[in-house]
Amino acid sequence: MQKLAIQGGSPLNGEVNISGAKNAALPILCASLLSSDSLHFDNVPELNDISTMCKLLQQMGVTIEANGRQRVLSAAHIDKLEAPYDMVKTMRASILVLGPLLARFGEARVSLPGGCAIGSRPVDLHIKGLQAMGAEIQIEHGYIHAQSKRLKGARIFFDLVSVTGTENLMMAAALADGVTILENAAREPEVVDLANCLISMGASIEGAGSDTICITGTERLHGAIHCIMPDRIESGTFLVAAASAGGNITLTNARADILDNVLEKLQEAGALIKVSGNLINLQMHKRPLAVNVRTAPYPAFPTDMQAQFMAMNTIAEGSSMVVETIFENRFMHVQELRRLGAQIEVEGNTAVIKGCSRLEGATIMATDLRASASLVIAGLAAQGETIVDRIYHLDRGYEHIESKLSALGAQIRRIK
Ligand code: UD1
Repeated sequence: MQKLAIQGGSPLNGEVNISGAKNAALPILCASLLSSDSLHFDNVPELNDISTMCKLLQQMGVTIEANGRQRVLSAAHIDKLEAPYDMVKTMRASILVLGPLLARFGEARVSLPGGCAIGSRPVDLHIKGLQAMGAEIQIEHGYIHAQSKRLKGARIFFDLVSVTGTENLMMAAALADGVTILENAAREPEVVDLANCLISMGASIEGAGSDTICITGTERLHGAIHCIMPDRIESGTFLVAAASAGGNITLTNARADILDNVLEKLQEAGALIKVSGNLINLQMHKRPLAVNVRTAPYPAFPTDMQAQFMAMNTIAEGSSMVVETIFENRFMHVQELRRLGAQIEVEGNTAVIKGCSRLEGATIMATDLRASASLVIAGLAAQGETIVDRIYHLDRGYEHIESKLSALGAQIRRIK
């Protein structure tokens, strides 16, 4: 199993290019199932989750041509309407094939995702929404078996804001008969990127980015060219790394307009931030100040940035509170951060962190994607050597993280 060895204490300086967003690319790759024409995507990140999604689509019959960051997908001949357990268990986003398959082919068999490290994460909202559109759904042998004649537009209210739930239903509604209105929909920028891709395929969608999305279905969607938006979580992770280790970094190909809450919290921690076009510069030349964080759906503070801010708070001046409201078990990094000397108490969904002036390197274990990023940040800020074990989680969602950090002056290497 691969590990990262980090010699902490070096500030980060220089430029880092931000990759395409994993959470936008995954649903957008699935949108290729909605059309028999080819789709051309650019800025697709090289990540294990993207390879897994491509494999899943290929075993259904989608052909994929790859050229650098470009992918051309064609779903002209689909012979298998199924997402098997082996794939869904490694990547929950596989559920995103359900809506498109059902809408275009009238049938889909998708394994139930089951639990994952950060919580139980059910898919009941996806299922209820498709049922409201006329699908017959049975759960049998651990699979969701959905069947339908042409789906019908419906008014669907989400009890909870769900990002992939909104995306699945938006894709299904694009080929349904009539108008679908999604209420209490997710407002995440990745939902907007997917909507923009669907619109270039000929879909009629209004309101993406607000909590009410109106989709007028059409019988056929056509091919399109779409460039994946920059990854806001990768952007935030590099900024927090520099705020924790100190230094002066500039993100290129980034978008500040979708990072409001994160940038505000970094400024509260004492970082100087300048934005110019698609560049974001952060300077931090002192110990960060502790900042309170409460996760909630976009545009509030993202749960995918919670662990990274917790890492920064462990070495900050003062005490802070981190409240996780989206996932019930997303504090697994706490135990590992404590191994570096962090002082953190957890009570329910709240962590109280007492900042200490230094962490000390140790061997720690990555448990999920964003928790892994927080351990890397802590390792960069700690004194001495930190070994982060089980980094396959990081490779799911961060493109070439160690080479990007090395280029900024971090002493980090992969041990195979
Ligand atoms: C997406 C992101 C993930 C991010 C999360 C929250 C992708 C591929 N993944 O995950 O990185 O952490 O949004 O911003 O985009 N829920 C239900 N029933 C459902 C669906 C969700 O109860 O049918 C609950 C979940 O358990 C969770 C909350 O709703 O507590 C939000 O989950 P959701 O937004 O659906 O997360 P994902 O779309 O899986």
